[in-house]
Amino acid sequence: MKEGQQRAEPDELCASGAPQGHREPIQVTVHPTAEVACAAVAEEVLELVAAKPTAALGLATGSTMVGVYRALVGALEARSLRLDQVRTFNLDEYLGLAPGSKESFRAFMDRHLFGPAGVSNAQVSFPASPDSQPGVESVRSARAFEAAIETAGGLDLQLLGLGGNGHIAFNEPGSRPDSRTREVELAARTREDAVRTFGGLDGVPRRAVTMGVGTILEARRIRIVALGGHKAEIVARLVRGEDGARLPACYLAGHPDVQLHVDAAAASRLAAG
Ligand code: GLP
Repeated sequence: MKEGQQRAEPDELCASGAPQGHREPIQVTVHPTAEVACAAVAEEVLELVAAKPTAALGLATGSTMVGVYRALVGALEARSLRLDQVRTFNLDEYLGLAPGSKESFRAFMDRHLFGPAGVSNAQVSFPASPDSQPGVESVRSARAFEAAIETAGGLDLQLLGLGGNGHIAFNEPGSRPDSRTREVELAARTREDAVRTFGGLDGVPRRAVTMGVGTILEARRIRIVALGGHKAEIVARLVRGEDGARLPACYLAGHPDVQLHVDAAAASRLAAG
């Protein structure tokens, strides 16, 4: 194992949805700071793109990813590299936002990665448009999104954050391990977590389109990032293992190449190992 890594030894492994006989614990890398964690993940993305310039990247949003994208943009600039041949597939998008809303995940990606890294519209796929109304176009756009991933040859690497309730993308507790890209209702906890972004609960969308758990599990590599003391409890629960129906991130334990990157604060409730 590399320095800084620890193999989690859960009492009960995250097993829901994993094929019988394939119940590996999630490999955890504890980094001293958030900055170091973000740099490590950015470096892995960069190595992948250097080896395969046309890589299909599954991308995530949220405050955790701000540092990852900052590190990635910095490393690209330092090495005079560009993400000009990759295809990108974002995990999720809100529904029912005003056109041009700066709170959409598309706007987040434009600000933090696509703009600074020169990723063009033609390279980018989202599972929905943020100004689509719930129920109207989401079935069609979800299907088109799944088809686009397939056409790209599948996702080479999927980045994931961790929701406060253990969701991945917007696969809330109760999601099935074989779920595909679809429209979902956001959990109360998820909407509360988004209050600061939207300036009040009334402004937080109720519905979104998310990549499914089954879709995520088909990515060849999955890298989860969780930073800060407010993630310590959910990280400990993920590593200890729970039923994926209660804590959807636990479905990832059945994946053959999944790693969790945390900083010291997010690792603070992990048993020493
Ligand atoms: C949203 C996104 C998730 C993300 C989560 C964590 O709910 N849909 O994909 O993992 O936020 O956000 P943060 O990184 O801000 O904690």
